[in-house]
Amino acid sequence: MHSAKPQHTPSRTVSTVLVSAFLALGIAWTAPAVAASDAASGQYSINSPIKVEERTSPSAKVCVEGDTCGGGAAAAPAAAAAEPAAPATRDPQTVFNTGCAACHASGAAGAPKPGDKAAWAPRIAEGKDTLHQHALHGFKGMPARGLCGSGCTDEEIMGVVDWMVSQSE
Ligand code: HEC
Repeated sequence: MHSAKPQHTPSRTVSTVLVSAFLALGIAWTAPAVAASDAASGQYSINSPIKVEERTSPSAKVCVEGDTCGGGAAAAPAAAAAEPAAPATRDPQTVFNTGCAACHASGAAGAPKPGDKAAWAPRIAEGKDTLHQHALHGFKGMPARGLCGSGCTDEEIMGVVDWMVSQSE
């Protein structure tokens, strides 16, 4: 009886070595290929999400106030910073000089002059609310808001009325 010792052991060893070598080679060979295919689907690929976004995004964007796009975020604080200046109510004489003096200083067209008690007495009798309304919305020869237009706040106009009344009581 022959020895049970397998005859093919050396060749199996050789082939194992060879297979290992091929495997190693294969890994070494495919690694760059994998890296290359990564690049193909990576950010430089036309299939990368970045490029797709770039290609499919609209060429113009509509920015609505409050949006962070188009410098909206930068513009908003600037507008907010500019706001506090507006509510500052000017003193009645300043407003009178700009918006009311043209008629009320001279009494043009029958405008009652501040301090002219006779002209003011019947008007004061109407009550301040009525005088405020007449100054804001007009009354006969008295144009709504005088020469102020939108340049004076309601508070400022009513302040002038109160001031003229206080001069004429
Ligand atoms: C273009 C001229 C003109 C300007 C400017 C003007 N007024 Fe008059 N205003 C008049 C005339 C004219 C009257 C008198 C109306 C009447 O009773 O016939 C009058 C009357 C008034 C009266 C009395 C209303 C009443 O019920 O009798 C008040 C209050 C008044 N003006 C406030 C103002 C204030 C405040 C301003 C400035 C913001 C102003 N006016 C600017 C012409 C003017």
